[in-house]
Amino acid sequence: MTMEQTFIMIKPDGVQRGLIGEIIGRFEKKGFSLKGLKFVNVERAFAEKHYADLSSRPFFGLLVDYIISGPVVAMVWEGKNVVVTGRKLIGTTNPADSPPGTIRGDYGIHIRRNIIHGSDAVESATKEIALWFPEGPIAWESAIEPWIYE
Ligand code: TYD
Repeated sequence: MTMEQTFIMIKPDGVQRGLIGEIIGRFEKKGFSLKGLKFVNVERAFAEKHYADLSSRPFFGLLVDYIISGPVVAMVWEGKNVVVTGRKLIGTTNPADSPPGTIRGDYGIHIRRNIIHGSDAVESATKEIALWFPEGPIAWESAIEPWIYE
């Protein structure tokens, strides 16, 4: 089976509101495996690099201000179709439009205070994992995988 990896970040509002455990729990309970985890403050230039594709958008400055306003939890999660399924767990960009049951739908109201980031495609996941985890993810095999996949 081809396993995929995605980059997930709990943004400063998710950290400040005590949602780290809840969010990690949702990915764990779904059956995905944690392959990288760090709790960091990022510099402005680093946040600008992470969001480089959005640099021409009018909200770019406010987005970067928010991301550097406090520590974030940066993670790599692995599993079958984890990029797309991870985005389903997260919900839509604007929490106001995100259905209950999704992380943004359950915990957010404002488009920028949307708690969590998840890579939007396999290619961006590869780029984001290389940026945030230049040392590479942790290679280990979860003992629950035989119970998650046939
Ligand atoms: P985007 O990559 O479009 O959304 P997503 O995080 O769902 O992949 O945008 C990145 C972040 O920018 C988004 O999570 C919240 C913020 N943002 C705004 O602040 N204003 C906006 O109008 C949009 C579209 C996004």
